[in-house]
Amino acid sequence: MRTSRTSRTTSRTTSRTAGTSVSPLWRRVSAVCAGLAATAALLAAGTTAARAADTPLRDLAAAKSKVVGTAVTGSKLTGGYGDIAGREFSSLTPGNAMKWGSVEPTQGNFNWAEADQIVAFAQAHDQQVRGHTLVWHNQNPNWLTNGSWTPAQLGGLLQNHINTEVGRYQGKIAAWDVVNEPFNEDGTYRPTLWYNGLGADYIASALTWARAADPAAKLYINDYNVEGVNAKSTALYNLVKSLKERGVPIDGVGLQAHLILGQVPSTLQQNIQRFADLGVDVAITELDIRMALPADTAKLAQQRADYKAVTAACVAVARCVNLTVWGFTDSDSWVDSTFPGYGAATPYDANYAPKPAYYGIAEALGGGTTTPPPTGACTASYGVGSQWNTGFTGNVTISCSGASLSSWKVSWTYAPGQRITQAWNATCSQSGAAVTCSNTSYNGTVPSGGSVTFGFNASWSGSNPVPTVTLG
Ligand code: XIL
Repeated sequence: MRTSRTSRTTSRTTSRTAGTSVSPLWRRVSAVCAGLAATAALLAAGTTAARAADTPLRDLAAAKSKVVGTAVTGSKLTGGYGDIAGREFSSLTPGNAMKWGSVEPTQGNFNWAEADQIVAFAQAHDQQVRGHTLVWHNQNPNWLTNGSWTPAQLGGLLQNHINTEVGRYQGKIAAWDVVNEPFNEDGTYRPTLWYNGLGADYIASALTWARAADPAAKLYINDYNVEGVNAKSTALYNLVKSLKERGVPIDGVGLQAHLILGQVPSTLQQNIQRFADLGVDVAITELDIRMALPADTAKLAQQRADYKAVTAACVAVARCVNLTVWGFTDSDSWVDSTFPGYGAATPYDANYAPKPAYYGIAEALGGGTTTPPPTGACTASYGVGSQWNTGFTGNVTISCSGASLSSWKVSWTYAPGQRITQAWNATCSQSGAAVTCSNTSYNGTVPSGGSVTFGFNASWSGSNPVPTVTLG
């Protein structure tokens, strides 16, 4: 079952009781300021939340015979996060939940709760699951890494692990990242627990055991810095070629694609194509594109171009079957804690508003030209707090999503009889009907995903209409 898209509106009804003159009025009008532009374009009254393009990414992808996915955290799959995960994506990858250290923290004691939850969510939303990952040098349980094992014991442990985990989810996993990150940058094998104990054929063994445990799952080798043609991707290429020649089950390669802004490899499509020509599928498995913080309009525009380029390279090769982002929101990304000073790497901001990057993906999937402006937006909205026969309190909130401000000024025109008498958290002046308010020394900065509110007292006579507010 798919969750249907619901449009969020912010209509609030005012309940008026006869004889009561004080009632909260929450009528809001908004102005939008695209990026950091000085002049503001007006937006119709109502919600100002940025909206995704009308067609979800998963539907755009399906029309191109592609699957589009995201890594997820099981505990977050409710509310807005769950809505987006279910609506926009046709594949989920557990970000951590299926790693050995998560599922068997002490030997023989299993914890499948988060992995089960993600699989159930995926089934309820008609989504594939990419299993991640069975054989890796990171996020293994301490009992495993601290033990001293003979090669036979190590092989037995690995076979048993693969049997248990792949067997548990048999028939429910579209593809497994069986082996993760086996290579060094120069294309030699990474000296891991597995390589050191079992030799290079731990890879062939793991694939063979995985095939036995779930014959229907596609089996992948996954790595990073293998997106372009280079020594590491060539080592991966040679490995896949020799595995195929030996009859070892290998169905695909995963290009993680943890990229840096402006550095999409120019040979990405060529590299995808050479793997496809070997007779395996290709997936972009962990796409994110990090930038030095803070984000700004130019960086977000570059990020849009980069996401579009990666998506287009996948679209261009028939055997590139899945494009998965490593977390869809900046609030659920590994980047900020892993690469200090970098962040804003995903297609949605921390408040779940789609960023320009989202529209870059959509456009490369054929989403067309109906997407909103490529830059983020800052908006100002005016609200009436309480109102009595001669006066009222008001407030204005300036919010930014995918853009930011270092200073701000809002203005509006009052009706006859409306006059500001006192403001706080802003410097306001009124000349005739024209009101202008600007930031104080301490609240000029509005970061992407943040907001600033100021308030005021005012008098009115006649009527007290809500004015149209301009930010700029
Ligand atoms: C990351 C997770 O996103 C983090 O939450 C965790 O702390 C570390 O691992 N390559 C991979 C992924 O194959 O499993 C990694 O995921 C990111 C790099």
